[in-house]
Amino acid sequence: MRKKFIAGNWKMNLNTADAVTLATGLKNALGTADIDVAICPTMVQLTSVINVVNGSPIGVGAQNVYFENNGAFTGETSIAMLKDIACDYVIIGHSERRHVLGECNETINKKIKAALAGDVKPIFCIGELLEEREAAQTDAVLKTQITKGLKDISAEDMANITIAYEPVWAIGTGKVASPEQAQAAHAFTRETIKALYNDTVAANVRIQYGGSVKPDNAATLLSQPDVDGALVGGASLKVEDFMGIINNA
Ligand code: PGA
Repeated sequence: MRKKFIAGNWKMNLNTADAVTLATGLKNALGTADIDVAICPTMVQLTSVINVVNGSPIGVGAQNVYFENNGAFTGETSIAMLKDIACDYVIIGHSERRHVLGECNETINKKIKAALAGDVKPIFCIGELLEEREAAQTDAVLKTQITKGLKDISAEDMANITIAYEPVWAIGTGKVASPEQAQAAHAFTRETIKALYNDTVAANVRIQYGGSVKPDNAATLLSQPDVDGALVGGASLKVEDFMGIINNA
């Protein structure tokens, strides 16, 4: 049985005071539900947020990382640096990084490998553009992203990876995937993992849905058999909304 995993992607929002207030509010509101929860603030606010949730069940993730350990890579942050501040997770390959900031599958693969080697758990994002869905290319796009993103990653390492299926047309648009669309993409993703690895890896890997998840649509999405959690953007910025999603899981 896969434990549900709800993660909040705060993106490039909030100042440090607001981030601390939000993290404190979540820490106080979170009960003892048998569910994994993580929040992902900006790099600047990671330490402050980690200090707030330290000792609570809330994990903290970065939104990006670079694959080299150190050196002349102006503006980048390494896995060793994330590990040094006790960061638990890192989002890799988010659609905004793929499509706004130009990240390719090969870079994403290097980042996932670096995260696994450095003991920070990757949340590996995949998802198709609207035109790809309309051209019936969703499965092909997902297969390429999964195969290239997970190239040379072992079955053992798969235990530390969460996959997030985020259709690009649903991110920040209010246009959520239907439960049937989400389930179909998640089932396809699990089948692809099974073909790449084996039944056990496929049965155990957690696949989050992301894209306009709100408290009022979370329950139906999360009740789909292959939907194991959510990666939440906009609705993770308010305690009430994020808790509404957690409670619906
Ligand atoms: P959204 O973002 O919930 O605001 O659509 C999801 C994401 O980008 O992870």
